[in-house]
Amino acid sequence: MAHISASVFTSHVPAIGAALDMGKTQEPYWQPVFAGYEYSKAWMKQNTPDVIFLVFNDHATAFSLDMIPTFAIGTAAQYTPADEGWGPRPVPVVQGHPELAAHIAQSVIQQDFDLTIVNKMDVDHGLTVPLSLMCGQPQAWPCPVIPFAVNVVQYPVPSGQRCFNLGKAIAKAIHSFDADLNVQIWGTGGMSHQLQGPRAGLINKQFDNAFLDRLIADPAGLAQMPHIDYVREAGSEGIELVMWLIARGAMSDVTGGAAPLVKHRFYHVPASNTAVGHLILENTDG
Ligand code: DHB
Ligand code: FE
Repeated sequence: MAHISASVFTSHVPAIGAALDMGKTQEPYWQPVFAGYEYSKAWMKQNTPDVIFLVFNDHATAFSLDMIPTFAIGTAAQYTPADEGWGPRPVPVVQGHPELAAHIAQSVIQQDFDLTIVNKMDVDHGLTVPLSLMCGQPQAWPCPVIPFAVNVVQYPVPSGQRCFNLGKAIAKAIHSFDADLNVQIWGTGGMSHQLQGPRAGLINKQFDNAFLDRLIADPAGLAQMPHIDYVREAGSEGIELVMWLIARGAMSDVTGGAAPLVKHRFYHVPASNTAVGHLILENTDG
């Protein structure tokens, strides 16, 4: 059967992708950001999974106000990096895993989460920047990826509690797939940032670090935090953090297993308008 070996959490700041693509990683502004991912890239090489289940948000690239799925699972064979206005990023096409994705769709919908099934989708910085941070600049991404898009742009957006419960359902789905696959689940977006209005530029280090603490040690309690707390404390775009609860909800300890091992923790301010947060958690009981 398939199993979940680890979860990875990271911000997806688009300027990080641009800095990497334009060879600016050693510039004084960017060097400390990329330094925080040196461990992660080595870890990723040593712990390359068979599939990454990548929870992210689309930024009006694949979807628009014409159509707003709350939860959308990618079931395609591949996904093209999107043109977000400056041409597509020069990164590899993302290979999908249609068989596992279709199985997860079947299982999770039968567990009463009404997913949208997406057979064709371009992927924006929400998905490609986390891959770049964890994998660097390879000719091809190291494994197939199942994109899982969450609406955190247009209200109403899903609650942290619903995201956490969805993570449990996704774990159950993965564990019932009849192939010996090593799957990682990634939660991306965040941390505190606000891109608009009078509070544009808001960053809240205290909130972010408390969020990381609770994500590790008290995810069920953290899942109860209401939207208004995210928006007040972490800014309007800080709501992207609910996606981290999907990945955390899929870890073993949530359903009675052992606590995960914290392999890496990193926090840096600022990158563009955003606080960068990053965690790698490993399941210890397979
Ligand atoms: C920025 C952050 C985001 O999450 C995003 O989607 C776009 C821009 C920023 O920090 O500039
Ligand atoms: Fe974003």
